[in-house]
Amino acid sequence: MNVLVLHGPNLNLLGQREPDIYGKTTLGEIDSQLTKRAKELGMTVRCIQSNHEGVLIDALHDAIGWADGILINPGGFTHTSVALRDAIAATGIPTVEVHLSNVAARESFRRRSITAGVCAGQISGFGAHSYQLGLIGLKEVVGSRKSEENR
Ligand code: DQA
Repeated sequence: MNVLVLHGPNLNLLGQREPDIYGKTTLGEIDSQLTKRAKELGMTVRCIQSNHEGVLIDALHDAIGWADGILINPGGFTHTSVALRDAIAATGIPTVEVHLSNVAARESFRRRSITAGVCAGQISGFGAHSYQLGLIGLKEVVGSRKSEENR
């Protein structure tokens, strides 16, 4: 099972960016933890970070035909990007949205996710652990869709 892990804008600064909100774990550490956990779960991950909406959209398009699942933290684009939402929907690939912080407990503009409506689910508020939980959730979703297809 192949998984595209997509990190949106400003997440390259994790570790130094507002650590009281996002924690001290760097993006490199998150990616290597995910790679290790994925291996244990029999999955292969490809991790990409970009600060550019179009690059994220291209990465979603490129996932078609390779990825069985997508784990995405769209960062600030969560709350603004119809184009990113459309790209997730266009892939037709089961997607789980993750956030380090608990977006429901923050500013009101963060409470609305434009992208979550085309995702299988959302995990928010567990710091770097959100990604691990998202990966487990994604495995469940992809597994149950595959067994439905085989019925
Ligand atoms: C975030 C939450 C977003 O509101 C914010 O813009 C981010 C990070 C999170 O992981 O908690 O960049 O997606």
